[in-house]
Amino acid sequence: MKKMNVGLVGAGFMGKAHCVAYSNMPKLFPDAPFFPVFKTVCDIVPEIAEDFKERFGFEKCCTDWHDVINDPDIQIVSVCTPNNVHAEIAAAALNAGKHVICEKPMAATVDQAKIMFDAAEEAAKKGIVSMVGYQYRRVPAIDEAKKIIESGRLGEITNVRTQYLQSWSADPASPLSWRFVKATAGSGTLGDIATHAIDIAQYLAGNITDLVSIVKTYIPERPVQEGGVDLLGTVKLGPDARKEPVDVDDEVSLLCKYESGAVGSVEATRMAWGRNNYITLEVHGTRGSISWCYERLNELNVCYGMDDQDGERGFKVIYTGPANPHGDVTWNIPGMNIGYGELKAIEMYEFAKAIEGGYQPTTCFRTGYQLDKVCEAVLKSAETGAWVKVD
Ligand SMILES: NC(=O)c1ccc[n+]([C@@H]2O[C@H](COP(=O)([O-])OP(=O)(O)OC[C@H]3O[C@@H](n4cnc5c(N)ncnc54)[C@H](O)[C@@H]3O)[C@@H](O)[C@H]2O)c1
Repeated sequence: MKKMNVGLVGAGFMGKAHCVAYSNMPKLFPDAPFFPVFKTVCDIVPEIAEDFKERFGFEKCCTDWHDVINDPDIQIVSVCTPNNVHAEIAAAALNAGKHVICEKPMAATVDQAKIMFDAAEEAAKKGIVSMVGYQYRRVPAIDEAKKIIESGRLGEITNVRTQYLQSWSADPASPLSWRFVKATAGSGTLGDIATHAIDIAQYLAGNITDLVSIVKTYIPERPVQEGGVDLLGTVKLGPDARKEPVDVDDEVSLLCKYESGAVGSVEATRMAWGRNNYITLEVHGTRGSISWCYERLNELNVCYGMDDQDGERGFKVIYTGPANPHGDVTWNIPGMNIGYGELKAIEMYEFAKAIEGGYQPTTCFRTGYQLDKVCEAVLKSAETGAWVKVD
């Protein structure tokens, strides 16, 4: 099997997810285009880089991402750092002729995203692939939903509602990590999780053209976490810890119009006690509806309302499996179920197939740039209270 060398920059939560995905991709997918070889891991914290090298079997580790970009033996770069450094790393990697899979949101600002987009467009001319980590659109149930929508069985789509609700920052003692600082994150809940919900909605209903939004920050300051990976609220800091202001949003809500003519809403918060990774989708059409929640990600609920008899109308549950998108390559029986690890492997497989085929995946940097523009429009609308057109 052909081999391709991987450089990973940023060895936290997503660094682990990418490594697990690279490892599993050729095991889960018999037609995997290549075998990823763990060449170099880079993290600004030397102990983290060293730990990853040992546990995942990288040949080398370093603390300066330029060492990854300047290595001619590396063909693929995973960018898993906080958002504000995505642009310089990803653009440098693309300019050096390396395929790039970068975590979302694509960048901390639209200007940074534009730099990445330009580099990706140029690199694409030479067959270089860019991809952003919007993996939730690749959940088999979501791709099945897309098939059903495109088949016309739901009629004309009138409304697409999505939510992404978490609770890990609801406690004011949850530390101020890079995710609560505009300079590193760009925005709060908006870029962190609302972007996933928006991506799913746009995947199914087309791009958002107009929106009006409300953005709120409920906890104005938090105890400071000094460096390292974001602990996502798993560690609480005591009352004596130094506090600093939060300058990003805790919660975002928007009403929107899609280019398809549908309307809808997106809500996201990291402060919903009782909710963990609660991504929901509700699609209503003139003939039927779809409903889905990530916490039961293998189940797609479909109601073919106009086709059902009076008194028998309701949702039926499809347990996704071999007959559904990606089902031939994960597990053999519906109900055996997949989770986050397999989902990131599906994403990696799509990345690998795009590299092999010389085409851009649906979540290429063009998509990431457009989504960052939606985020810009959300913040603009929240400031003025007015409807805003997405550029
Ligand atoms: N797709 C998803 O579901 C998903 C989930 C979580 C996070 N993310 C995204 O992944 C990215 C990383 O988030 P995370 O949760 O893994 O963060 P994290 O805090 O767990 O890890 C980030 C790592 O990057 C390192 N780092 C920081 N600056 C660096 C630099 N200049 N060079 C090298 N290493 C550097 C840090 O030391 C840390 O180890 C973010 O863009 C985030 O939005 C995506």
